[in-house]
Amino acid sequence: MNNRAGFLEKLESEVENCRRCSLYKTRTNIVFGAGPANAELMIVSEAPGFNEDQKGVPFVGAAGELLNKLLKMTGLKREESYICNILKCRPVTSNLENRPPRSEEIEACTPFLDRQIEIVKPNLIVTLGRYSASYILPKIGYSFRSMAGVHGKTFRGCLLNKAVTVIPTYHPAAALYNPKYKDAIEEDFRVIGRELEKLFNTSRLRCGLSDRLWQVQEKKDMKLPRSIRSRQPIL
Ligand code: URA
Repeated sequence: MNNRAGFLEKLESEVENCRRCSLYKTRTNIVFGAGPANAELMIVSEAPGFNEDQKGVPFVGAAGELLNKLLKMTGLKREESYICNILKCRPVTSNLENRPPRSEEIEACTPFLDRQIEIVKPNLIVTLGRYSASYILPKIGYSFRSMAGVHGKTFRGCLLNKAVTVIPTYHPAAALYNPKYKDAIEEDFRVIGRELEKLFNTSRLRCGLSDRLWQVQEKKDMKLPRSIRSRQPIL
């Protein structure tokens, strides 16, 4: 098991036993997160709904279907991104309906999200909706006032000791219930697609350059310093 996957598994078992807020009493399953432990893209949303609570997997309902389509537009498959939420348990009303997260729940649960970010080390974080944007943006030095002011913009900063780009967009459910958000969210995912393209081109370029460097060195049979001889091409 690679280290990052191992750390995530350990953290997930911690969340399974969590009683930091009262949502443990009504949850069927925690919804920890899904995706590769070394994903370039991390999607951070709000909280599980009914379907997610039943299955223990993020975005399996109607909003999930839309998210999959939007991700497809960027050229990335859902399974290539790491998807998680601000809250790991479904927030419910006394009638067991979905409700928005409360500040004490966010405070109790976000240390788990911070650790997920530290482990996965994504280069790009896409926040869905106001709860994740208003949590992540201040962490990299930007203030959050409204979704209208930040959606589709590219914010660069340092998060938990790592350079990161953050692009906030609306929650897919907003586009499902109100068609006025549909165009905006689609346009935002085009911005996300272009950012991913830049990210992957940069890493391919770095890889290509170093491959070429090694070929040249092999041909010339150059005597390289030990530190360079033992270095592996950047992948
Ligand atoms: N909405 C969210 O914010 N997260 C999910 O996992 C599903 C729906």
